[in-house]
Amino acid sequence: MLQLEEIYKIIDDEISRLGWPEEPNGLYAPLKYMLDIGGKRLRPRFCLTAYNLFSDDIGEHILSPAMALEVFHSFTLIHDDIMDKADIRRGVPTVYKKWDNNTAILSGDAMCISSYQLLNAAPEHCLKAVHNIFTKTALEVCEGQQMDMNFETLDDVPMEDYMTMIGLKTGVLIACAASIGALIAGADRSLGQQIYDFGFQLGLAFQIQDDYLDSFGDEKVFGKKIGGDILNNKKTWLLIKCRELARKKDAESLVSKLEDLLAMGESEGQAKIDAVKAFYRSLGVDTLAEEAINAYYNKAISELEKTSLNSTQKAQLEKFASTLVKRQF
Ligand code: IPE
Ligand code: IPE
Ligand code: MG
Ligand code: MG
Ligand code: MG
Repeated sequence: MLQLEEIYKIIDDEISRLGWPEEPNGLYAPLKYMLDIGGKRLRPRFCLTAYNLFSDDIGEHILSPAMALEVFHSFTLIHDDIMDKADIRRGVPTVYKKWDNNTAILSGDAMCISSYQLLNAAPEHCLKAVHNIFTKTALEVCEGQQMDMNFETLDDVPMEDYMTMIGLKTGVLIACAASIGALIAGADRSLGQQIYDFGFQLGLAFQIQDDYLDSFGDEKVFGKKIGGDILNNKKTWLLIKCRELARKKDAESLVSKLEDLLAMGESEGQAKIDAVKAFYRSLGVDTLAEEAINAYYNKAISELEKTSLNSTQKAQLEKFASTLVKRQF
């Protein structure tokens, strides 16, 4: 079995080897830009890590589907940044900011389509299963993104609905990445499902952490604007928990204070971000979020324990998972 660092290097090399046409430059330049600026590349890494639990035969049949996951994910981010009005990603201007909306839409479309081409390199024995899970996942991501947008204009989103939403927009693709790796390596369906369940819980922890870092991270390290979710009144784990606590503690005054903060316009920018963060802190929402991240991480580990993997394989996945929740970016 390879070291995780070796797996990461293989993925980085493979991304830089992806060949894209030169013309039309307006279509392919943004796509190359998005892939070159990096990011954590956790989905292809996870896919290859899961594959490598069972097989050392690393070739196009696994690397190309691993690339499909990163290209698909990066496509969703290009469109997500338009939807979330986000100006920076991975520490640089977002595609729609650097170019324009139409460019971002079309380059994103090209990436979505390319991801299916890349997926086709999966071996015959599992090609249909891999296609099925990828396609199902891709639709679920759209469903999650739609729910995320619907929530922007709702005042009161129950935590349960939030969890459904992040499972769809984030959990399923991370889970899919791991299970595709296992399927290509020839793992049976039930083990593939167990690995999926592990990845899904890890994905939930990952998204709550993304929400946490969006308010409490360091912009230079995180690579996205701190407070972007606050400005958009995004129904993040923090905001939902904050409303729950405000209601419980002192229904009238705290909830109305929160309403006033949320009603601050985007023009109030930094003042709104600072005020909402201070309010979160006053109720201890930041600490509770860290606890929730750990709780979902632990759920992931208990799913991992339930699998029929041997102890070396489990240790490899646990190591991978722990690097994710220790992240600051
Ligand atoms: C961002 O994904 C969107 C979420 C699901 C939180 P990542 O945090 O994996 O973004 P990159 O690929 O590392 O930039
Ligand atoms: C995005 O969630 C998830 C997808 C793109 C599917 P976010 O909107 O929280 O992701 P970031 O914070 O912009 O990376
Ligand atoms: Mg979003
Ligand atoms: Mg976003
Ligand atoms: Mg986010």
